[in-house]
Amino acid sequence: MDIRAKQSAAREKGLNDRRGNRKTGGFAITSPVIQQNKTLELKFELAPSILSADFARLADEIGEAEKAGADVVHLDVMDGRFVPNFTFGPPVVAAVRKVTSLPLDAHLMVEAPSRFLDDFIRAGVNRLSVHAEAEPHLDRTLNHIREAGVLAGVAINPGTPLSALEEILPIADFALVMTVNPGFGGQSFIPSMLKKISRLSEIIVSKKYGTRIEVDGGVCADNLRDVLAAGAEIIVAGSAVFGSVKGVDGAIHELRNIAGVTKRKR
Ligand code: DX5
Ligand code: ZN
Repeated sequence: MDIRAKQSAAREKGLNDRRGNRKTGGFAITSPVIQQNKTLELKFELAPSILSADFARLADEIGEAEKAGADVVHLDVMDGRFVPNFTFGPPVVAAVRKVTSLPLDAHLMVEAPSRFLDDFIRAGVNRLSVHAEAEPHLDRTLNHIREAGVLAGVAINPGTPLSALEEILPIADFALVMTVNPGFGGQSFIPSMLKKISRLSEIIVSKKYGTRIEVDGGVCADNLRDVLAAGAEIIVAGSAVFGSVKGVDGAIHELRNIAGVTKRKR
């Protein structure tokens, strides 16, 4: 294992230790669940998606995001079948692994993703999510990911009910709630997803699961506060970071500042 992979593994270990204990340090951003006398400390993480980056300058773009305070690099893998778009596969992920020490979070928008888990694990990902709509054997798939020492996530589209997560939440390190229909960057956040995030947060707290909520699609400075207040912790932002007129550095500072303000107000 090279030094970058070691640093990354150590960082992710902290998250693994958090399972069954939602009170590990970090930002204390509260959700509406608190109103029911439950204290929930959430750790905000910003995960820029390289989908909106300039692929010809990918290493520079990632380096800039890392320097500006990104916590995770989000990698959108698309197969042209599960979603109407293609992106990249394990070779590009392996190349990204060489240029950053940040955790890599691969979001597989592919049919039958279990075919490719080991390829992405070998490429050096730290987090791997599959879609509930694309994988009939979620229990086996998530266990396989976790046994490899990688954090396992399950993603759901906007039209998929939370009931699709019911049996799998206890073993999911994170649940990825899509707030746009997956396939493209730069789409508008679907406002009705805020209630879905809140309901998921309530379920996780009431059942005392360690599952974290990741939100992906259309998140920007205008809606970040609401998304965090609903109970999300890991925030994916593609066009709001790599397509911002403020530049990558300015955009990340603005988003982090909003998250900090949200914490202090509550
Ligand atoms: C959409 C992808 C997202 C996308 C987000 O299918 O899963 O990760 O890159 O991009 P924005 O933040 O621009 O909606
Ligand atoms: Zn994504």
